[in-house]
Amino acid sequence: MTILENISLKPYNTFGIDVNAKYFVSVNSVEALKSVLALPEHTNYFIISGGSNILLTKDVNHLVIHLNIKGIHTVTKTETTTLVTAFAGENWHEFVLWTLNQNLAGIENLALIPGNVGTSPIQNIGAYGVELKDTFVECRALHIETQQIETFTNADCNFGYRTSIFKEKLKGQYIILEVTFKLYNKDYNLKTDYGAIKEQLQSMQIVNPTIQDVSNAVITIRESKLPNPKQIGNSGSFFKNPIVSKHKFNNLKLNFPEMPSYKLSADTVKIPAGWLIEHAGFKGKRFDNYGVHQDQALVLVNYGGAKGTDIYKLSNLIQLTIKRLYDIDLEAEVNII
Ligand code: EPU
Repeated sequence: MTILENISLKPYNTFGIDVNAKYFVSVNSVEALKSVLALPEHTNYFIISGGSNILLTKDVNHLVIHLNIKGIHTVTKTETTTLVTAFAGENWHEFVLWTLNQNLAGIENLALIPGNVGTSPIQNIGAYGVELKDTFVECRALHIETQQIETFTNADCNFGYRTSIFKEKLKGQYIILEVTFKLYNKDYNLKTDYGAIKEQLQSMQIVNPTIQDVSNAVITIRESKLPNPKQIGNSGSFFKNPIVSKHKFNNLKLNFPEMPSYKLSADTVKIPAGWLIEHAGFKGKRFDNYGVHQDQALVLVNYGGAKGTDIYKLSNLIQLTIKRLYDIDLEAEVNII
């Protein structure tokens, strides 16, 4: 385990922002992580994992710890279910592919989500009608202060829409080391009712989809709308879809009759932020080497060489415009560092 100096973080964040870490270390075991955390000269540090949900706006003047602990194993298997544990540093999509190879159902709708297994519970990743919490059994996490490893059950995590206890009450206090999922060998219901999936399966002329068919449909949809971070730097959805009261939504409807929404409860609705941003005129807008993606207005992009501060300023401009036009507060989904 070597502590490197003056390392560019460009390969470690999917936005592809080129900032410098004064010190950098990659750890591939829990023991290595613990010994780095115990270094008296590096009490100040920043953990980076898949780097898919951060916008780096400045150089990091202390230690960056790259969490690279890998491994996937089956814990138990019954006739219908299989418990699988994956370590934090496993790439999320590679993990989804592994489960598909084993013919295990449960996370096929979550194919191609950028990031690593360890960060997936923090914001309860989700797509096409499925959220991480639907298959999450428990995770083990290192309590930074006491160095104890603790187990968090599904209920302990307090999962919500793109959030969990690790993003709220316990923010910054734990490092997730491994996650256990309950997947299905048989008797599962594939979630294909989300509009885009239904249409994609129809166009693939598939009537009785397999797990692989569903994930292929998801991959096709995502590839058609979302930029591949390997080609164009981005962090997926930059903002959360805002949740407003039904009363407020009814008033908005008077001025914007086309505004789409999803009913959440008797008196709350979720509005697609992509629609708000598109109708505010930002979709496909390019400022020099950064901008708003042309096929999905919720995704901010770095065309190459953009600064984190440029993208941050653009996100502020979008927030101010959405507030002015619709009186809605857009909350960033991405962590600004
Ligand atoms: N829309 C527009 N213009 C746009 C984009 C979207 O009008 O440029 C409207 C359309 O009405 C569309 C609706 O927004 O029907 C929903 O769009 P989409 O299905 O693309 O989903 P989303 O709400 O924009 C969410 C997640 C995505 C996830 C998709 C699919 C959030 C913040 N984002 O996006 O997650 O892949 O649903 O389930 O909840 C991510 O979190 O990084 C992410 C990509």
